[in-house]
Amino acid sequence: MSKKNNDEIKLSIPNKPEYVSVVRLTVTSIANRMGFDIEKIEDIKVAVAEACTNAITHGKNEEDNFLVDFIMEEDKLVVNVSDNGRGCTTLNEIKNPDLDHLNHEKEGGLGIFIIRSLMDNVQIISNHGSGTIISMTKYMGEDH
Ligand SMILES: Nc1ncnc2c1ncn2[C@@H]1O[C@H](COP(=O)(O)OP(=O)(O)OP(=O)(O)O)[C@@H](O)[C@H]1O
Ligand SMILES: [Mg+2]
Repeated sequence: MSKKNNDEIKLSIPNKPEYVSVVRLTVTSIANRMGFDIEKIEDIKVAVAEACTNAITHGKNEEDNFLVDFIMEEDKLVVNVSDNGRGCTTLNEIKNPDLDHLNHEKEGGLGIFIIRSLMDNVQIISNHGSGTIISMTKYMGEDH
């Protein structure tokens, strides 16, 4: 049985906020090329930028780059963002924020919620000491 080879692009990005725009532009170009509509491209762009910002701000591994892997399949785009940072074992248990009672004094805590809202499938693997991988999938079709 032969497995169809999917096209794949890998980026290695310095842990600096000024490079998030490079990833944002790259994913826009990839999704556009695949034929995603503007609305979905916007969703992907925001979600991927949030994941990169987390890798930079929480991963905190200044010597190491973080990696962004784009896998182009026939009906979907998978984006994996991985860092070698400190990891966070409770990342999968993050509760959705209570949007009616947001605490404006305490900033933050929305990134994972935004990623889960905008993408069709999100998986997070994170362990203390061994970093974090967040895998996000967006489907091309309407039934997702
Ligand atoms: N790549 C990562 N490595 C280690 N911890 C992480 C990582 N990504 C997220 N976390 C942890 O999960 C928490 C929630 O992340 P989330 O993106 O939802 O919120 P935030 O980054 O704190 O704030 P915001 O994204 O709204 O600016 C973070 O505060 C951090 O403790
Ligand atoms: Mg965040």
